[in-house]
Amino acid sequence: MPKLLTIFTLLFLTTTAFAASEPALTVTMGKAKQSLTASALLASPKTREIEVAKDSAYGKPMHYRAIPLSALLDGAKLSKDEVIEAVATDGFVAMLPLDALLQAKKGGAEAYLAVEPPDARWPALPGKTVSAGPFYIVWLHPEASGIRSEQWPYMVAELRAADSPAKRWKELAVDPKLAAGDPVRAGQALFVTQCMACHKLNGAGSSDLGPDLNRPANPVEYFKVDALKKYIRDPASLRHWPAMQMKGFDSEALSDHEIDLIIAYLKHMAGRKDAKK
Ligand code: HEC
Repeated sequence: MPKLLTIFTLLFLTTTAFAASEPALTVTMGKAKQSLTASALLASPKTREIEVAKDSAYGKPMHYRAIPLSALLDGAKLSKDEVIEAVATDGFVAMLPLDALLQAKKGGAEAYLAVEPPDARWPALPGKTVSAGPFYIVWLHPEASGIRSEQWPYMVAELRAADSPAKRWKELAVDPKLAAGDPVRAGQALFVTQCMACHKLNGAGSSDLGPDLNRPANPVEYFKVDALKKYIRDPASLRHWPAMQMKGFDSEALSDHEIDLIIAYLKHMAGRKDAKK
């Protein structure tokens, strides 16, 4: 049995009997699948109190009881080209790079799973009626590892190991003839972290929250470039309705240059709707 399972098995067994209706986080690593309740996680000796100076979802400093993701994943057999997908109850799927999660880089960002205590609920998210709970991935020193706004998934229901997007989906690949430093490649990397949490491209991706951004048509084919830039920055500035789900990206989440890189990738992919390699 991997160590991942043993850490929590005892806590899990002692609490589930009393907390059948409690929210639980599913952790899937290969064939090992486990369900961890909020109270089991809160009772873990690895859980700490942390202060998040600049919380992405709340937009202000926040205090949490949280367990380091490195402790949660400790002992799980993961390979370098895997990512952890954090699946939220609304269909959002964040891709979290393993080396950042496992704090492979000294002085790098530290990922935590914040757990909403059943007896001390978190406030509602800005503009929403629900909180970020029951489980929310937060970071200390996110800038040290280039962690982006879409890598703070909230309302998380499942964490699962998966092959990296590049290995899994050849449909995302750029023309192999492009130079290593080509801006289209930088756009691709940004697209994977910032857009694929909600969008597919050429049918590739884990989320169905937003439309596929290449098939049947690519936004560069029906948006003027300026309108597309405006849309990515602030969709509501172009069209607005109550149920819209894409919030947009402020200049901290994506600079003007980074939006240009993503559009360069989209343009490039418009010519690769059926590319096989
Ligand atoms: C939180 C989820 C989410 C993220 C992250 C996200 N989008 Fe969206 N996007 C949506 C949804 C959902 C729609 C459909 C309209 C709506 O509900 O807002 C949409 C619509 C769009 C559209 C309009 C498509 C059309 O034909 O109307 C474009 C273009 C777009 N997104 C591009 C992007 C790009 C580029 C990124 C990354 C920089 C991105 N989105 C990130 C959820 C998201």
